Amino acid sequence: MNNIEQTLSIIKPDAVERNLTDEIKKIFTNNNLNIKESKKIHITKDEASEFYKVHQSKPFYNDLCAYLSSGPIVVMILEGQNAVLANRKLMGATNPKEAEEKTIRKLYGISIDKNSVHGSDSTENAKKEIEFFFKN
Ligand code: CMP
Repeated sequence: MNNIEQTLSIIKPDAVERNLTDEIKKIFTNNNLNIKESKKIHITKDEASEFYKVHQSKPFYNDLCAYLSSGPIVVMILEGQNAVLANRKLMGATNPKEAEEKTIRKLYGISIDKNSVHGSDSTENAKKEIEFFFKN
């Protein structure tokens, strides 16, 4: 069945810093996820705290927000068939050590914090996250 969705993808500071942006973008486009919008930005810690507020009760919240605001990131709207799930499959498990072969986090992730990419986990969150970065 035809189910074209949009999802938000972030290339995190560790991957932007290592010039992996084009390689990661190629993984998306080679797997039928079109990049509808893309911009390189550097957010503040307050903005990162707002973006990740679903994690505010977690012990890693402060470090997570400090990390996402530590350097430039690339935020993208990906569009394609079942884009939310398709993107999550391409990313692999949150912890690169547990990610499957050939996934982005297995290929490029350094640690659970520096795991190279973020992707929305549901269509509902995808809408909110796209709004956060692109509809201001
Ligand atoms: P991300 O998909 O961006 O969503 C939240 C992030 O928190 C996650 O990727 C990880 O980089 C980071 N994180 C740090 N520690 C943990 C943890 N113990 N469990 C889950 N996510 C973690």
